[in-house]
Amino acid sequence: MKDSEGKIDLLAIDDLSEKLSDIIDWAIRIKNDDDALYDFKPLDGMSIGSIYEKPSTRTRVSFEVGVNRLGGQPITLLAGDIQLGKSETVADTASVLSRYMDCITYRCFGHEDVSELAEFSSVPVINALSDLHHPCQAAADMMTIVENSDKVNGHIAWVGDGNNVLHDLMLGSAILGYDLKYAVPVGFEPDVDVLSRAMDIAKKNGSTIQEANDPAEAVSGAGVIYTDVFVSMGEEHLESKMESFDGFQVNEGLVSNAEQGFLFMHCLPAHRGDEVTDAVIDSPNSVVFDQAENRMWSQMSILTYLCNEAAWQTYWELR
Ligand code: CP
Ligand code: NVA
Repeated sequence: MKDSEGKIDLLAIDDLSEKLSDIIDWAIRIKNDDDALYDFKPLDGMSIGSIYEKPSTRTRVSFEVGVNRLGGQPITLLAGDIQLGKSETVADTASVLSRYMDCITYRCFGHEDVSELAEFSSVPVINALSDLHHPCQAAADMMTIVENSDKVNGHIAWVGDGNNVLHDLMLGSAILGYDLKYAVPVGFEPDVDVLSRAMDIAKKNGSTIQEANDPAEAVSGAGVIYTDVFVSMGEEHLESKMESFDGFQVNEGLVSNAEQGFLFMHCLPAHRGDEVTDAVIDSPNSVVFDQAENRMWSQMSILTYLCNEAAWQTYWELR
């Protein structure tokens, strides 16, 4: 949704609302268009800054490479190297970086920080993961499901923690009309406000978001099985949390309840032997590295849409 100055911030995947479907189709098109990037440089002359308060492999590299392919300049700002969090506030950082940059991505701990950065920034802000949302992951996940939509049914099962990745997967599924059933241990349910937002969107689009009684029920007949780490970044002090996840591992026994040819998905990094076994993540059903690749294509579509909508539209109409 555009603010009063026409700026779109991507804090959660539903900020793209019904545009999500076109953003994914655009990403699939550019991924398969070998010629596109020779002459299509929609970020020419633009600088895209990315602030990281937590480690990252996929997000950082896919943004840097994607921005470069679109003709822009990626600038990565690691928390230890900049004034933010030491002598400078989020609001002042937003005002300063807006004078240099055309878009800012931000990986932070508390979601309120990325919301504040967006509020005080005059250029689009993209949430590169907060404790509450991971919209860039969801865009790549939905892209991967759409790419495989002729092979699997649209029933998505989540087994694991009720976390940031689940939140945006629920919202993304609801926007695109997929059904999602989740199994989480007691005490690790998704955020109630995000859940209710996802359920409202799903209702409008004729799909469902439901809680299952256990992992076997969630994956029964599923076309997609998704899990994530049981202990997220910033929760390392909660290692005792692991005990609650007994019975939530995605292993060969559990996936035997799914549809044949199901997709196994994981945002990565995976803690092999905890939330998923090698046998599942390394099986032919696993699309985890396609998801990782699609982070780049879907972010390229998002960046072009947010920073140069006219070019996004032109490519869309001409190709
Ligand atoms: N999935 C994901 O966001 O990976 P990174 O933490 O490596 O960026
Ligand atoms: N839930 C995980 C996702 C990592 C990409 C975390 O927040 O650490």
